[in-house]
Amino acid sequence: MMQSNNIHNKVIRQYHRLARKYDTVWKKYNTATIDETLKRVDTTGSRTILDIGCGTGILLDEVQQRENGIQTFGCDLSLEMLRQTTQKENENLLHVSVADATALPYPSDRFDTVFSTSVFHFIRNPNAALNEMYRVLKPNGRLILTDWCRRYRSIRMLDSFLKYIDRAHYRCYNLDECIKMLNDAGFSIERADCYKISSIWGLMTIVGRKM
Ligand SMILES: C[S@@+](CC[C@H](N)C(=O)[O-])C[C@H]1O[C@@H](n2cnc3c(N)ncnc32)[C@H](O)[C@@H]1O
Repeated sequence: MMQSNNIHNKVIRQYHRLARKYDTVWKKYNTATIDETLKRVDTTGSRTILDIGCGTGILLDEVQQRENGIQTFGCDLSLEMLRQTTQKENENLLHVSVADATALPYPSDRFDTVFSTSVFHFIRNPNAALNEMYRVLKPNGRLILTDWCRRYRSIRMLDSFLKYIDRAHYRCYNLDECIKMLNDAGFSIERADCYKISSIWGLMTIVGRKM
């Protein structure tokens, strides 16, 4: 518990410093990541969407712009990142909470769709996070998880490097490891693939359905 609080503080400090610049500094990466993620799933018919580690709310904003009437919820460890969501024009983005991915403050069977983009490599206990994602989804609901993929040499190098210099970073996975973790949490896999958005950034997106 002490160690996990310590790690959480490192994540919170890192994103506290970055929050105001985040959308600008990471614009190209975020646009590509979120575009690729949303390309892989049809949210028509989803009324309630949760984004775990939603940061400044870019994905929720994009979903709202594509479809009216969707209720969007987001949670993140960093209050400062969540504060940036209120700077955006879309007032529906205000359903945000400070929370850890492994202890979600929502009732079971609550959401049609759960997203998480570029967050998984921070989480110390990914199995606990996946169990929580499964719990808050309605039966038949879908999880869409996008993160860096160790299939790519650039990501393996980055993963090793960040383990030394960045205490907030935990670890990256390859596609098969992630699929196994989703299966262990109870998900059936609908789609899973790896792709590059630039010469450095190799990603994977997995769509799992709650049985
Ligand atoms: C790279 S940013 C991605 C933000 C957003 N998902 C996006 O795609 O723009 C990583 C985010 O994950 C959050 N985060 C890291 N560990 C977390 C955890 N255990 N629970 C919830 N959020 C977490 C950080 O605070 C940060 O806002």
